Amino acid sequence: MCFPFPVQGESTPLTECKVRPSDQSHRMSRIETTRQVMAPELRDRSQEPAALGMIGESAALASVYERARLVAQAPNTTVLIVGESGVGKELAARAVHALSARRDAPFVAVNCAAINESLLESELFGYERGAFTGASQRKIGIFEAAQHGTILLDEVGEMGPGLQAKLLRVLQERRLYRVGGVRPVELDVRVIACTNRDLRLSVQEGSFRQDLFYRLNVVQIEIPPLREREGDVVPLAKAFLGQFAEEMRKDLRGFSRAALERLIDYPWPGNVRELRNTIERVAVLTPGPVVGPEDLQFSPVFGPQQDLDPSASDEQTLAEVERAHITRTLSDCHGNKSRAARLLGIHRTTLAKKIEEYGLG
Ligand SMILES: Nc1ncnc2c1ncn2[C@@H]1O[C@H](COP(=O)(O)OP(=O)(O)O)[C@@H](O)[C@H]1O
Ligand SMILES: [Mg+2]
Repeated sequence: MCFPFPVQGESTPLTECKVRPSDQSHRMSRIETTRQVMAPELRDRSQEPAALGMIGESAALASVYERARLVAQAPNTTVLIVGESGVGKELAARAVHALSARRDAPFVAVNCAAINESLLESELFGYERGAFTGASQRKIGIFEAAQHGTILLDEVGEMGPGLQAKLLRVLQERRLYRVGGVRPVELDVRVIACTNRDLRLSVQEGSFRQDLFYRLNVVQIEIPPLREREGDVVPLAKAFLGQFAEEMRKDLRGFSRAALERLIDYPWPGNVRELRNTIERVAVLTPGPVVGPEDLQFSPVFGPQQDLDPSASDEQTLAEVERAHITRTLSDCHGNKSRAARLLGIHRTTLAKKIEEYGLG
């Protein structure tokens, strides 16, 4: 549908609703029309989800994009992006940056889990010459490297307590001291933090500072696991296959119906990352041109658990098997419900309901 009247002071009538040739045309033309009415400036194609690398047709992904777009307009607001590993948290962080006025300044990502705490401090804040043995010259840290741009603190939940306190100060004061430094450096950086942990739980357990949690959690973007995002698997798989076919210069035209059904039925515990890797493997190994179900191999190690209780007898009802399996998984995870939910391949709230239903709480 088009709206042949001026919107928000625009002088040209909005009659040119372009029909997109892609298989997303249906949903996208609807969204596009809405956006034209709400925010005409967004007709810039470079700001659309696909241009930002965000593929998918689920309502969940559309609302992730919408949040990213909104928060992009508040260039100093801290964002916390939560979701399982591989759901696209970093991609969403990059989208926030690309949609914001900071887009021409650097986007710098640091994985807080990958570096030990003392190194992480000098990585983040830099150091002055002579700050410690071996510091033969001043080094600029990641925060300063991101000046005027965006810093992504990935896996922020893994940060140790000492560094949490320092990060909190930097976020509050918007300035930092390099290690061994006495003069503050003023910062103009947007902070985005990502985590696959339930940080509220970490706060309850005492491993994450509550004040830092609130400081980071100003605007939250939650990205649901792929198995809960109806409408994303197929367009993602097709797009990845297209990308790899082009990269490998192979004639891979698409998936058979049965292959698509297998892709849709699989729970994707490793989310979009696992899907991408699976399609890459398929693209390498399959002769093509059409990918069949026999070409698809899912990772057996992290796949859904098949081995239910070996002592379970034939007489058990499905509910009894489920109850026993949840009990055992909870115990394996020492009562950590987020981890248990992840292992079980269900959402935390679904697990909470089942715990209540089976009286396991
Ligand atoms: N909606 C999406 N469309 C296209 N690619 C995606 C999407 N979500 C995730 N990916 C890809 O999946 C991989 C994992 O995404 P990433 O953002 O690193 O996940 P996370 O940070 O949550 O672990 C990356 O290669 C990323 O480009
Ligand atoms: Mg990541």
